[in-house]
Amino acid sequence: MRILFIGDVIGRPGRAVVGEELPRLRETLDLDFVILNGENLAGGFGITRKIAEEMFALGVDCITTGNHWLDQREILTFIADEDRILRPANLPAGTPGRGAGLFQARNGGHVLVVAPMGRVFMEPQDNPFAAVERELVACPLGEGADAVVVDMHGEATSEKMAMGHFCDGRASLVVGTHSHVPTADAQILPGGTAYQTDAGACADYDSVIGMEKHEPLQRFTTKMPGGRFSPAAGPATLCAVFVETNAKGLAERIEPVRVGGRLKQTVPD
Ligand SMILES: [Fe+2]
Ligand SMILES: [Fe+2]
Repeated sequence: MRILFIGDVIGRPGRAVVGEELPRLRETLDLDFVILNGENLAGGFGITRKIAEEMFALGVDCITTGNHWLDQREILTFIADEDRILRPANLPAGTPGRGAGLFQARNGGHVLVVAPMGRVFMEPQDNPFAAVERELVACPLGEGADAVVVDMHGEATSEKMAMGHFCDGRASLVVGTHSHVPTADAQILPGGTAYQTDAGACADYDSVIGMEKHEPLQRFTTKMPGGRFSPAAGPATLCAVFVETNAKGLAERIEPVRVGGRLKQTVPD
């Protein structure tokens, strides 16, 4: 199976580069399944129904989120009946929505997507490792699922790497989100799980993690908030991870993808 995982899409510039590049990537990479982290889709903060529909129309099959999942409260009006959007998996029992889902890919196979959120340098949550364990046991790779993708939404590289090893041999791909900067450690772990600590964001990189740089600079240098954060408005780079799996659902190949905008470009052959 050929899977593309697209990192956090930041506001309008991020949506624009996804709109420009995803149709071409779907064709050139012959994609069976597309996952997109959408926690920053709406002006950098949260997700609306209208924007989610735009992403689905472009060929996105599943939208994961993260700590910003609830920034647009309207998500509470549709998350219960929109199976394609996942909230973080390790939230307290009774939280609306789901943190994992089983989806049909274009080749007929089934993809389990799990969306844990880290706890290091983040708000306190339930244990993400326990939440992932539950999902992997309920729907094992090669039995319930033909591919398993874990979006580990977290700040600390250590916690994300630990999640990679925790899932090694049991997932097709473990990829990090949330830091908005792509890491250079794409690899296949010893047990056959593809791994990259952070997919990066779809954002204008003349920015501070996707936000217009003046306000973050002011806060770092003076400790005085001057205004609101808003997405940097220049041309964005689409950052993603491409994975090809074998008959067992393990990774044969992982390739970082960076197209458009300022970052050094890389597109798999
Ligand atoms: Fe994010
Ligand atoms: Fe986040």
